[in-house]
Amino acid sequence: MSVPLLLCGLVGAAYAQTTANATSSVTSTSVDNAPTASTSQTLSAAETSSILWSLQSSAPADNLTFSSLSNFTYTSYTSQAPTPTTSVATLPTDYSEQAWSMLWDQVGPVATPPFNSTVIPTPEPSPVPPPYGFSSQVTTGNLSSYQLPSDFVWGVASAAYQVEGAAMEEGRGPSIWDLLSHRVHGYVADGTTGDITDLHYYLYPQDIARLKAFNIPYFSLTISWSRVFPFGRGYVNEQALAHYDDVIQRLVDAGIKPIVTLFHWDTPLALMNDYNGWTSDQIIADFLAYAQLVMTRYDKYVPIWVTVNEPQVYCGDEYPGFPSGYWPQYGVTGLRAQFYCGHNTLLAHAQIVDWYRNTLGGTGRVTFKNSANNFIPNTTSSADAAAVARGNDFQLGWFNSPVWQTGDYPASLRSTLGDLLPNFTAAESAMVLGSCDFFAIDGYTTDIIAPAASGIADCAANSSDPAWPTCIQQSQVTASGWDVGFAADPGASWLKSDPTGVRQFLNYLQKTYTGPKGKDIVLSEFGFAEPFENNFTALPDARYDQLRVDYFTGYLNNLLAAKVEDGVNVTGAVAWGVFDNFEWSSGLSTRFGLQYVNYTTLERYPKASLFTFMDFFKQHGL
Ligand SMILES: *[C@@H]1O[C@H](CO)[C@@H](O)[C@H](O)[C@H]1NC(C)=O
Ligand SMILES: *[C@@H]1O[C@H](CO)[C@@H](O)[C@H](O)[C@H]1NC(C)=O
Ligand SMILES: *[C@@H]1O[C@H](CO)[C@@H](O)[C@H](O)[C@H]1NC(C)=O
Ligand SMILES: *[C@@H]1O[C@H](CO)[C@@H](O)[C@H](O)[C@H]1NC(C)=O
Ligand SMILES: *[C@@H]1O[C@H](CO)[C@@H](O)[C@H](O)[C@H]1NC(C)=O
Ligand SMILES: *[C@@H]1O[C@H](CO)[C@@H](O)[C@H](O)[C@H]1NC(C)=O
Ligand SMILES: *[C@@H]1O[C@H](CO)[C@@H](O)[C@H](O)[C@H]1NC(C)=O
Ligand SMILES: *[C@@H]1O[C@H](CO)[C@@H](O)[C@H](O)[C@H]1NC(C)=O
Ligand SMILES: *[C@@H]1O[C@H](CO)[C@@H](O)[C@H](O)[C@H]1NC(C)=O
Ligand SMILES: *[C@@H]1O[C@H](CO)[C@@H](O)[C@H](O)[C@H]1NC(C)=O
Ligand SMILES: *[C@@H]1O[C@H](CO)[C@@H](O)[C@H](O)[C@H]1NC(C)=O
Repeated sequence: MSVPLLLCGLVGAAYAQTTANATSSVTSTSVDNAPTASTSQTLSAAETSSILWSLQSSAPADNLTFSSLSNFTYTSYTSQAPTPTTSVATLPTDYSEQAWSMLWDQVGPVATPPFNSTVIPTPEPSPVPPPYGFSSQVTTGNLSSYQLPSDFVWGVASAAYQVEGAAMEEGRGPSIWDLLSHRVHGYVADGTTGDITDLHYYLYPQDIARLKAFNIPYFSLTISWSRVFPFGRGYVNEQALAHYDDVIQRLVDAGIKPIVTLFHWDTPLALMNDYNGWTSDQIIADFLAYAQLVMTRYDKYVPIWVTVNEPQVYCGDEYPGFPSGYWPQYGVTGLRAQFYCGHNTLLAHAQIVDWYRNTLGGTGRVTFKNSANNFIPNTTSSADAAAVARGNDFQLGWFNSPVWQTGDYPASLRSTLGDLLPNFTAAESAMVLGSCDFFAIDGYTTDIIAPAASGIADCAANSSDPAWPTCIQQSQVTASGWDVGFAADPGASWLKSDPTGVRQFLNYLQKTYTGPKGKDIVLSEFGFAEPFENNFTALPDARYDQLRVDYFTGYLNNLLAAKVEDGVNVTGAVAWGVFDNFEWSSGLSTRFGLQYVNYTTLERYPKASLFTFMDFFKQHGL
């Protein structure tokens, strides 16, 4: 049996398959070895050192130690029925191999990856930047003298379902996104799935070696909840823990700091079946238990934790629009589902942070990541200004008024939504308030805002109005008829580049939320889908991503200006994404990577924008 030949990239290297004999030649590039054991191996320090010989000069770190909680049942899902190794809990439902198979039957046939064992990385050659000057057309002016502090957080980001692939491997249970991409016709525009995507689940050793070769100090990743708990709760899948143990070990050995997100939209499908996911308050205890297991295990090595990614999107865009008939929906649908999802998210987040600070005694920083755009008024009219304020209540205030300001939702949401918006008890308010150590904003773009056609007051009082409940109009075309900035790929039609917008936005966030509390802001995601990048057939054409170069140059310079000239306490910038990946409902054909991925060979190739991104931090003292 042979596995696909994985050729050297222009700046890359082949990775070697592991063989049954983990201590055999680690630099073998033979492609004739059948992949065997599908376990992620823990390599000895000596082995790690020899594999990464070109990447590390100092002695490798000692083997890491991981703490296990004993109040869980540990097992692994193989072809046989599971045999729990620890059992102290009484489990309410069936977590058998058969039940696991039934969940996957609900999703339908899943593509098998081209191989099923973890690669051993080969040395990464020195990065080769593009030959010509590739600075953007956005002038840098006198910003060039500004320095960033040595503790500035910068790096690249990923998310489990978007990059891991290996969807059904090593006991992973399905998530809602496996079902949506497989079963719901048209949910993903190009009909692709996350079954294989980048196969980062097996290729992570090479991916981490690449990050090390580029001296990128932080990597933002997500743990897949349904890998760790295939049913969202119940038995813990030991294979998943062994995998993430090795991911953390390799990051630490490479000197790369992990930013770990616990949940990035991939709700375990079993929990959709059991109680409709985030619309039920039952999810709070299940998510807390999962968080306790993961945070206890990895906290020593993780300086920054993110509980949930962009609740504005999974609650606001996904729940109200979920197609019916694919799982029981228990009557909580539409806008009620949106606001119940948000409420349960806030309570779960707050309980995790409370437990993390007060019981675990964690020393890292914890927050959640917000999705929001910089809202600017269509004109200078007071009606447009009021629409901007109201729009911000609905996108940012919904989650951040409870956390940063009052312990409750904004008054405009309360008065408009009535009983669609749950109440907090006094104790819940107190726990939610102050539950973020810093403000994480995924700030990609700018929107032009105007009131609903019927006006805000009439619309807010009329739940039949098509613009209800926000009662605003949102576009990216300015009053003069121009786009607010140049457009991204049609697969990301919501995205225009507006560099000065990010400076305004950071100022707004500090003034509104973090400033009064003396806290900081991290630009936790930003990035750009180069138009028509997927249409190039020649790799060198695809890698020269000039508009993404302009985007990053403009955004980073404006972030710097916000920090140095405006005094905004912005302490980090994390680019989306580490490489091209499964862009949710746009699928694989909309590319956001700083590295190009050939989905046939799975090889990754740095784009020009990756060099722009890295050089920015070098130029400013890092
Ligand atoms: C593993 O590889 C070593 C070195 O090539 C060899 O001596 C040993 O017999 C191999 N063990 C197995 C189980 O194949
Ligand atoms: C790391 O673990 C391996 C395998 O358990 C062991 O052989 C090795 O001695 C350990 N290294 C250190 C530095 O503790
Ligand atoms: C891995 O792939 C090989 C070759 O396709 C197959 O024989 C083996 O059963 C697979 N292992 C697992 C655990 O899926
Ligand atoms: C940068 O240039 C602008 C425009 O000339 C000027 O107003 C500003 O003071 C300069 N800042 C520094 C730090 O030199
Ligand atoms: C598991 O045990 C830990 C440590 O004793 C405790 O903090 C946590 O609340 C327990 N979790 C569950 C779900 O029982
Ligand atoms: C919230 O509390 C108010 C005032 O007590 C009450 O009128 C309202 O029905 C409650 N909302 C919900 C969703 O329970
Ligand atoms: C509420 O909005 C609907 C839909 O636009 C409209 O038909 C209706 O006349 C409005 N009702 C009031 C009282 O304005
Ligand atoms: C924005 O302003 C322009 C110019 O006044 C106007 O033509 C347009 O209708 C406004 N857009 C919205 C959505 O109100
Ligand atoms: C910036 O934020 C950090 C961390 O929240 C805080 O310690 C520091 O005092 C803040 N700096 C300023 C100037 O507000
Ligand atoms: C991707 O790899 C395939 C197989 O080697 C090759 O035919 C194709 O040209 C590559 N695509 C790009 C854009 O390099
Ligand atoms: C460009 O790629 C998109 C998908 O990425 C595809 O729908 C479209 O047909 C392609 N256009 C051309 C001219 O090949």
